[in-house]
This record gives sequence, C-alpha cells and structure tokens, in this order.
Amino acid sequence: MKDGMGKVAVGAAVIGAAAVVAVAALVVRQRMKSSGRWVRAMDIVKEFEEKCGTPEVKLKQVAGAMTVEMHAGLASEGESKLKMLISYVDNLPNGDEAGVFYALDLGGTNFRVLRVHLKGKDEGIAHQEFTEASIPPALMCGSSEALFDYIVEKLASFVAEEEQMFQQPPGRQRELGFTFSFPVMQNSINSGNLIRWTKGFSIDDTVGQDVVAELTKALNRKGVDMRVAALVNDTIGTLAGGRHTNKDVAVAVILGTGTNAAYVERAQAIPKWHGPLPKSGEMVINMEWGNFRSSHLPLSEYDIALDAESLNPSEQIFEKLISGMYLGEILRRVLLRMAEEAAFFGDEVPPRLKIPFVLRTPEMSAMHQDKSSDLKVVGNKLRDLLEISNTSLKTRKVVVELCNIIATRGARLAAAGILGVLKKMGRDTPRQGGEKTVVAMDGGLYEHYTEYRKCLENTLNELLGEETASSIVVEHSNDGSGIGAALLAASHSLYLEELSS
Ligand code: BGC
Repeated sequence: MKDGMGKVAVGAAVIGAAAVVAVAALVVRQRMKSSGRWVRAMDIVKEFEEKCGTPEVKLKQVAGAMTVEMHAGLASEGESKLKMLISYVDNLPNGDEAGVFYALDLGGTNFRVLRVHLKGKDEGIAHQEFTEASIPPALMCGSSEALFDYIVEKLASFVAEEEQMFQQPPGRQRELGFTFSFPVMQNSINSGNLIRWTKGFSIDDTVGQDVVAELTKALNRKGVDMRVAALVNDTIGTLAGGRHTNKDVAVAVILGTGTNAAYVERAQAIPKWHGPLPKSGEMVINMEWGNFRSSHLPLSEYDIALDAESLNPSEQIFEKLISGMYLGEILRRVLLRMAEEAAFFGDEVPPRLKIPFVLRTPEMSAMHQDKSSDLKVVGNKLRDLLEISNTSLKTRKVVVELCNIIATRGARLAAAGILGVLKKMGRDTPRQGGEKTVVAMDGGLYEHYTEYRKCLENTLNELLGEETASSIVVEHSNDGSGIGAALLAASHSLYLEELSS
C-alpha cells in the first residue's frame, strides 16, 4: 500500500515536471517568436527610416533641382514637371482697394464664402464675414454641375442673409474673387481652363473646361447676380492677402490638404510670356510645385505603392510626400506592413488598418505630439480609429517614432522647396541694407501640426545659414487666400473709376 502510494507520487511528480518543462518550452518559444517578430518589426522601421533620410546635402540637391525645373517651366509650356502658371496678376494689392467684394474659396476639404469691406487709402479691411462648409465626398467625384451648384447655393444663402447696407447701387453687379485651388491654365485674370484635379477630386467633365464659365453657368442657374472679377489659385490669394498687410511678402506657400507655392517673378525672366510687358515689370507665378519630382527625392516603397494606387498616379509626387492629405496614409501603410509581416499588433492583422485613408494626418499629428508619459493619446487613437486595443507602451513609442520619420521628411523637403524658390529669386544669400523677404504661409498642416512647422522652420534656417536666415521671414497668413481673392477682385473691378472717386 505504502509502496503503491509511492509509485503514484513518483509518477505524478514526473508528469508534473514534464508539464513544467513543456510550459517553459512554450514560454521560451513564445518569447523567441515575439522577440523574432519585434526584431522584424524594428527592421521594417529601420529600413523605412533609411529610405526617408534627408541629410543637408540631399536637401540642397532637391533645392537645386527645384530651381532648375523652375527655369525650365518658365521657358515654355510642357518643358517641366513644374507648370509655372502665369497668374495674370502683375499688380499686387497696395492698400488702395476699396468697396465691398466677395470671395469663394474652393480648396480641398472645406470651402468658404467671404464678404470683405475694403476701405482703401491704406485703411485696410473695415469688416469681413465668412461662412464655411465642407464639401460632401460624393461631390468630389460627381459632375461639374453638381459641385458648382452646391457652392453657388451656399453663396446665394450668404448673400440672401446680408444686411441692407451691402446692397449694390442700381445697375451695379456684385463682384467676386474665385479662389480655385487646382492647376488652371489662365487666359486672363478672370478665365482659365482646369488642367487636372488633385487632392482626391476627380470630376472628368470639368477637366479642360473654363472654370469661370462653369461657375457663371451655376450663378445663372441659381439666379445669383454676380460677376467673377478674378480667378486665383490659393497661393496667389495668399500672396495678395499677405502683401496687403506686409509689403515684403514675395512668396506664398500652402501646406494643407495639398501643397503649392507662388512667387513674384520678373516678367522678363518668363520666356513663355508673349503678352505686353506689365508696367510693374513683374508677374506672379503659380508654380504648382506639388507636381515636382526629382531623382533626389527620398521615396520609399510605401510612397511608390501609395502613388500607384492613387486617383492620380505619377502626378503630384512632391505633394504625396509632404502634404496633409497623404502623411497619415503613409503611416497607415507602414503599420499595415508591420502588422502583416511582423504581427506587430498580435496574430491577427487589424481589419481597419487595411482601409485606405482611415488614418488622417490630424490624428497622426495628435499622436506625434502626445506628451503624456504613457502615450495615452496614441493608445486611444489606435483603439478608436483602428480598433487596436491594449497596446504596450513599447508599441506606442514605435508609432510615435514612425510619425516623426514621416513628418520630418515632409517638413524638411518643404523647406528645401522654399530654398529652391529663394535661389531662383536670388534671395538665398545675405542681403544688404536689412532687406527682408517674407514668405506667407497658410494651410491646415502648417497651422496645426506644430512639430512639422517647427521642423520646417529649423530646417530652413539650417539650409540658409545664420546670416541669410535673418533676412527671410516666414509668416503665417491666416486665411489670406480668400481675402486676397477679394482684393484682386477689387483691383480688377469693372467699376474702378467709380470706386476711386
Ligand atoms: C493644387 C494647387 C493648390 C495646392 C494647395 C494642390 O493640389 O494643385 O493648385 O494650390 O494643392 O491647395
């Protein structure tokens, strides 16, 4: 009996020990597997970081290539990826603009209707009012008629609600500046044909059409009596709005859903301009720099795939690296690869991570700028947007690192672009006599993504060197593009003589 008990006890002990060994082996295997996965995940991050590298020499090459392309684009149409579009703005606002003018600002995600009361004689803006609405996604891919009717309806209700004091004298039409933030080949200050859509818009029946004619048809359909006095890109509007408040503004850059730059060029340095030489000797150029590309751009496999699967493959490559529409999407693509190849978020690939554009740049910016010790914001965003819960601090840190890689590359490339423009203008070297060049900046990315903005400004200083940097001022021109369009409508009004008397 005793013996029998002993056998049972020994047997149990053997089985117990074997189980312990098996569990331990499982744990070790599990650990090895997860450390193997972690190593693989970190390799993906490292590889991506290397591909995104933007050392100073590379940025200078990018800037140089930008300058070269600017020359080519000014020489003749179709010579360069940079369209270098002639804006027909040869006189920027000087403070004399007077009267009540309207602006329609159709840019990316949102659009605005504004009314600006200009006092003239350097007294500036007496009063301004605006209303804002988002563009329903269905209208971004519908018909021209549907899109233009929608914006004109908003304009009509804005006008219908206004006070008696804004009524026009009999026989005089209200006048409007139309900020249309897409590439347009202008034929005059108030006409121009759409070259192509960008930023997720794709309305085939508008490409090649005169956008002012399309808008005018919609105004007629909706019975709104208004004349389109100026058609401007948002960069041109920002330049005009910026110049109105600061005479040193000579460049405008938009960093928002999309990106672009405009600057003041000597008319004689535009070989493709065959019109009369403007009195000012200057012409504002809409570069359409979003379409810039160069072998010096640091492209990763994720950028190549994003481009190939986009609505506009092979176009807007610079934009796809630096602007708000795409930064979050690049992050999603890297995270998806890590989930698929390194089980970064566990055995299952989180299904929501497979949805294109589910991670937007504002969310990425919030994660990047999470200052809490446990990266709570990162954890919450991963949970709420991607349905990935219980992430470890280690995992969250990697997510922040990726945000940093993507935003740093974008911001540094944007700074290189600005350097390219300054080089073309001959403003990249120290100036005599305290002369300043002001770059008016606008767009949600610049405005709200602080880390991006700081990195851009630091990089520009780094590239310019201390002495030159002191003569270049980067200024936020808040919503200058709408006001700029109203100012340009004023300076191209049919009633200029009446207004100035
Ligand atoms: C458009 C430009 C515009 C920029 C910023 C780009 O996608 O092509 O015309 O200025 O976005 O809004």
